Amino acid sequence: MAPRHFLTLKDLTTEEFKQLISRAIELKKMQREGVIYEPLKNRVLAMIFEKSSTRTRVSFESGMAQFGGHALFLSPRDTQLGRGEPIEDSAKVISSMVDAVMIRTFEHDKVEVFAQNSSVPVINALTDDFHPCQLLADMQTYEEHRGSIEGKKVVWVGDGNNMCHSYINAAAILNFHLVVACPTGYEPNAELVTANKAFVTITNDAKAAVKDSDLVVTDVFASMGQEEEQAQREKDFDGFQVNEELMSLAHDDALFMHCLPAHRGEEVTAGVIDHPDSVVWDEAENRLHAQKALLEFLICK
Ligand code: CP
Ligand code: NVA
Repeated sequence: MAPRHFLTLKDLTTEEFKQLISRAIELKKMQREGVIYEPLKNRVLAMIFEKSSTRTRVSFESGMAQFGGHALFLSPRDTQLGRGEPIEDSAKVISSMVDAVMIRTFEHDKVEVFAQNSSVPVINALTDDFHPCQLLADMQTYEEHRGSIEGKKVVWVGDGNNMCHSYINAAAILNFHLVVACPTGYEPNAELVTANKAFVTITNDAKAAVKDSDLVVTDVFASMGQEEEQAQREKDFDGFQVNEELMSLAHDDALFMHCLPAHRGEEVTAGVIDHPDSVVWDEAENRLHAQKALLEFLICK
């Protein structure tokens, strides 16, 4: 039987997404209570990182250890992947020895090609186009603080990037309305927006967008791989900083999220990120619990 992959959120049904959130909340409680639960004893997760990471690596590696399994960190610097071994060949070989593979890379089609040639589940741990694992954690965090996100107004402020794309998918699956406030030229992928047009609105007016919102989310101006565009982007994103004035336009109980790492003083002020309405630390911790739910779902089922 073909393995179940997690390359974008669209690999999940609404029911499955909601179940993963509930399971993540349960697993978090078990972890807090010190319950030993090792459903992945003797199982191995290969983790291929072609970009840097703190949260993703620590959460997957710790999650596998807590589940009684093991995680292997593979970097292109010291594997044959970095010396040009074809992805198809690497996928066949690596998947023959492990129980799941997690990949963080540049081009999204690399994870698709890997998955097509893998005999075990493949997890997208961020590509230039999507970051679905982060959305599992974000949606868990919203649910823990405010209950169901269905019907809520979520505002994405900033670049129409990989995180924004995953928010678009989440809006369609969990049925919330997403307003993307971005500078001209930094809109999310047009095909993705069209395919999900019932759930997404695009605007250049950040203030109007944030008005009466329930959740405000942002991310860095320049993502990994775009470092040389930083200076230009700082100019282009003028007016798209999430600051106290912008947050004051949202609902009184609106939350603030950022996948981190953040640049205080650029896309967000220190005052917003360190404010009680900011749930960024829960959001980061929930990477662990949400991905444990995902690993259990993909490997044990
Ligand atoms: N949010 C996130 O994916 O963080 P890392 O880049 O540190 O893994
Ligand atoms: N958009 C950011 C997210 C980092 C977790 C990036 O791709 O660098």
